[in-house]
Parts: sequence; C-alpha cells; structure tokens
Amino acid sequence: MALIAVAADKGAPGVTTTAVALAALWPRRALLAEIDPAGGDLVYRSVTENGRPPDPTTGILSLAATARRGVVAEQLWDHAQRLSGGLDVLVGLANSDQAAGLTGQWGALGRAFAELAQSPHPEVAADVLADCGRLDAGSPVHALLPHASVLLLVTRSSPEQIAHVRDRAAALHNKLHGGQRGTAQLALPQIGVVLVADPQRGERVATQVNEMLIASGTGSRVVGLLAEDPVGAEQLAGRRRGRLDRSLLVRSARRVVADLHQVYRGELAPSGSGATGAQPAPPPGAQRPPAPQGAPPPAGYAPPPGYAPPPGYGQPPPGYGAPPPGQGQQPAGYGPPHAAPQGPPWRPGDGAAGGAG
Ligand SMILES: Nc1ncnc2c1ncn2[C@@H]1O[C@H](COP(=O)(O)OP(=O)(O)OP(=O)(O)O)[C@@H](O)[C@H]1O
Ligand SMILES: [Mg+2]
Repeated sequence: MALIAVAADKGAPGVTTTAVALAALWPRRALLAEIDPAGGDLVYRSVTENGRPPDPTTGILSLAATARRGVVAEQLWDHAQRLSGGLDVLVGLANSDQAAGLTGQWGALGRAFAELAQSPHPEVAADVLADCGRLDAGSPVHALLPHASVLLLVTRSSPEQIAHVRDRAAALHNKLHGGQRGTAQLALPQIGVVLVADPQRGERVATQVNEMLIASGTGSRVVGLLAEDPVGAEQLAGRRRGRLDRSLLVRSARRVVADLHQVYRGELAPSGSGATGAQPAPPPGAQRPPAPQGAPPPAGYAPPPGYAPPPGYGQPPPGYGAPPPGQGQQPAGYGPPHAAPQGPPWRPGDGAAGGAG
C-alpha cells in the first residue's frame, strides 16, 4: 500500500476532481488527504454520511494543531470524516494562511501517510491519495514527496499545459531522483502523468505527449487518460444531478485506477505481498517489478488492448453510487470501492511497471 501524491504544475487542470474520482474508485481502503497548501475544496463539494457538509475544522487543520507534537499515523483517522458513499477524507485547510500552521511539518505529514499505508494493522492501514494542489517551486509539499510511492501530475492537453507539465516532471525528476536514469528507474516516487483530454482524441494526444516526455528525459510517462467531461466533473462536485456512474469521467477514472495498478503493481501492491512502498530499492524477493539499470523508458504511450474509444472508456463501475433521490447536493460518485480494478492489463513488455521513473 502506498502514498499516492496527485498534483499539477499550474492552472486548475482537475487535480481535486481526479483525486476524488480515483479515491472513490480505489480497490482498497483509501484515505483522501486534501493537502493543497492553497486550501481545500471538499467542504464545498461534498456531504458527509450524515448529510451535512464536512466540518472544516476537522482534517488538515486539526492535524496541524497537533503536528508540533508529532504526527502519528494511527491518529490520522481521528481527523478523518466519512463522506456520503463511504469515502474517508482529511479535508483541507480553508486557505493558504492556515498553511503556516504546518510550516516544517510537511515531511512529517508525508511520513505519517506512508506509515499509515504500510501499517501492519489492517484496521488502520489504507492507501493515502493526497491532493497536493500545484507543485510550483515554492510549494511546501515538496518536503512530503520523498515519502510518496507514486506522484501523479495531472494536466490538460493544450500545448502550453503539456509543455509546463513536461518541464515540471523533468525538474521533479532531477530533484527527487538526481536525474540519473540508472537509479531513477527504481527511485520513488515514480512520476506519472495523468492526461485529462477529450475522449475523441485522447489516445492520440497521449501517444504524442508520451513521446515528448520520454524524448525530453523527464523520467516520466503517461500512465492514465481521464476523460474531459465537464458534466461528469460537475456531478462529482455535487453541483449537478445525473447518473455519475455512467459518466465518461467515472468510466475513464475506473480505467485509470486499473491502469495505475498495472503500471505500478510493485508500488501499489497490497500490504503483506512483499512489495515495499516508499523504499528506495527493492529488497531481495520483493515484488518490485524488474527495471534494468539504464534501460530506456518505454517507447510511446501504449494503451492496453481494447482501450475503449468513445463513447466511453471502460464499463461503468459496479456499485458506484448514484445520487440518492432528492439529494442534488450529494457528491454522487463517492460510491463504495469496487472489489478489484478491472479492465484489460497493461500491455506486457511496455516496460511501464517500475520503469516510469
Ligand atoms: N475531467 C474533467 N473534465 C472536465 N472538467 C473538469 C475535469 N476535472 C475537473 N474539471 C473542472 O475543472 C475545474 C477545476 O477542477 P478542480 O477543482 O478539480 O481542479 P484543481 O486542479 O484541483 O484546481 P485548484 O488548483 O483550484 O485546486 C472545475 O470546474 C471542474 O469541474
Ligand atoms: Mg484542487
């Protein structure tokens, strides 16, 4: 199990939306941590299982108040709230001013998240998906990243946004991995790009973006393709009614979850499987996928066979909650996690597993 950081370079490409969708569809217990230093949005976009908006003072803010005494992984649950549909969240700070309360504590927060993910106690263990907001050079979240197993950079598909994410991925690769390919192949966090694109042209764009990421020596690649679906995004944010489970957004998010578990099968393996989470190198016998030193990154974005073209990526997730009648404000997609990621496996031999860095 792992800490998965979700972030953007600039703009608002849909980090929160992506993090919420992935966490809601995650195949194991997941904790969504809204650690965007600029402030969170979940209190405005969701309701708890009691039908009320989340309490903004219980979450990262209450954690920050205790952080000076140290952050203990098991105690993270004391600050979590359960949303309607079952997703557990640590709601974010109200604004960037409150981030001062966490000054110097971001590394400890990352360590606590990683410890929670790797806890040997099943009653507390959970994957942590962290909405990190924008990772510009001054973001304090950089201190948390070494504790993550996977860093997902979310981007839209315009040329300028692609250029920005390429540069950010390269900078992060250099900062986190030293930019040396041999060790970087095994170094954590693995950096992947989640492309939010028009489903009609998503695969073509993903292939082009992937080629550019590789040619630029960013140490990253496209690991997921999320549908650009304004209606689905509005539904997920509780601002619009409709069958969220049928939306392109949710269908594509489900495929992204499956693809992530294929690409990062070593990093995201369940606890007790022998995989190691945020460790720099796999111990003998661990299920970290082989990544030969100096091996080139995979050539080209390789969608798995059957990667569904429009009108939808994949099938609607079973059990993904539709809004209860009469609850238009309900964040309808926060459905119970399904049993296991499904969908066609990532194409063998594409070198993705463990080779994204
Ligand atoms: N996959 C998507 N398709 C279409 N629109 C989307 C998608 N994801 C998000 N959006 C829309 O983009 C806007 C920003 O979304 P979101 O808040 O998730 O972005 P963000 O990157 O977290 O932004 P911020 O930096 O402000 O926190 C919202 O209006 C949302 O509805
Ligand atoms: Mg956000």
